[in-house]
Amino acid sequence: MMQEFNGKTAFITGGASGIGFGIAKTFARRGMNVVIGDVQDDRLKHAEGLLKEITNNIFSVNVDVTDREALHAVSDKIKSVYGPLNVLCNNAGRTGGGKVLDISEDRWRHVEEVNFWGPINGIKVFLPDMLESGESGHIVNTSSFSGIHGHGNQSAYGASKFALVGLSEFLRNDLEGTPVSVSVLCPHVVDTPVIGALKERVNPKVREMIEAMAVSADVVGQQVLSAIENDEFYIFCDGTDTRKMLEKRCDTMLAAMERQFPRGSEDE
Ligand SMILES: NC(=O)c1ccc[n+]([C@@H]2O[C@H](COP(=O)([O-])OP(=O)(O)OC[C@H]3O[C@@H](n4cnc5c(N)ncnc54)[C@H](O)[C@@H]3O)[C@@H](O)[C@H]2O)c1
Repeated sequence: MMQEFNGKTAFITGGASGIGFGIAKTFARRGMNVVIGDVQDDRLKHAEGLLKEITNNIFSVNVDVTDREALHAVSDKIKSVYGPLNVLCNNAGRTGGGKVLDISEDRWRHVEEVNFWGPINGIKVFLPDMLESGESGHIVNTSSFSGIHGHGNQSAYGASKFALVGLSEFLRNDLEGTPVSVSVLCPHVVDTPVIGALKERVNPKVREMIEAMAVSADVVGQQVLSAIENDEFYIFCDGTDTRKMLEKRCDTMLAAMERQFPRGSEDE
């Protein structure tokens, strides 16, 4: 369990914007060495400039999470600059909502490639060295509340995020007894460029609803740090509509079990 952050090192994918950038700022303020990876050079440059106002112990890399070899090169660079990695945030993600039949084959595959295989690549590249270093470490996989409850028509996106919750649960089992832990971040609505673009497309009433639900990326950054400190596995970002959805999912599943295997029936 990680208790000390000062001087420790974190790598955040999709770290040049939104949630990843919120996490990067929080880590930098706690004295960590921060490396952000992203595919957008302009965002990287801008984010790096802002992070340098907090610390000099930061650098950015253009890396696509679907490219495992490129991630190996990032791992080598981090080792040579800061030594062993302590925190890996597999945060990069792309959108891909819509009905199952409406999403093209290419889009299905690319969404899964970034949102699910991206974190697998991160884990395969960085975890062996994290374990070998013997230092306390933590992996945070950014899923979504769409990976906890199947609301709306989120098909490709939601399926990738459900898979990431599953991957994180199995990784938690694998890591038992090691100094490395894992959490899965399940935000519902966070005020980032993705949500900004969505607000532009919807009617004023829906926009108002989104604004009421939205949490800031800076708050999510603090929630992530606190979850690492307390070794909290599921990281939720609010407890309002999400609580109702979680209750509904659990109730629906338990009701199905009850119908099929009524309590007490095994005694009859
Ligand atoms: N904003 C929300 O409401 C919300 C809710 C639930 C989950 N999420 C998840 O949070 C994560 C961050 O989203 P955000 O809202 O901050 O979005 P964002 O667009 O602000 O940031 C995502 C960053 O990831 C980068 N990226 C995309 N594909 C990449 C790739 N292949 N390799 C490396 N970087 C890549 C983008 O360039 C971008 O800078 C995503 O995984 C997203 O699914 C966001």
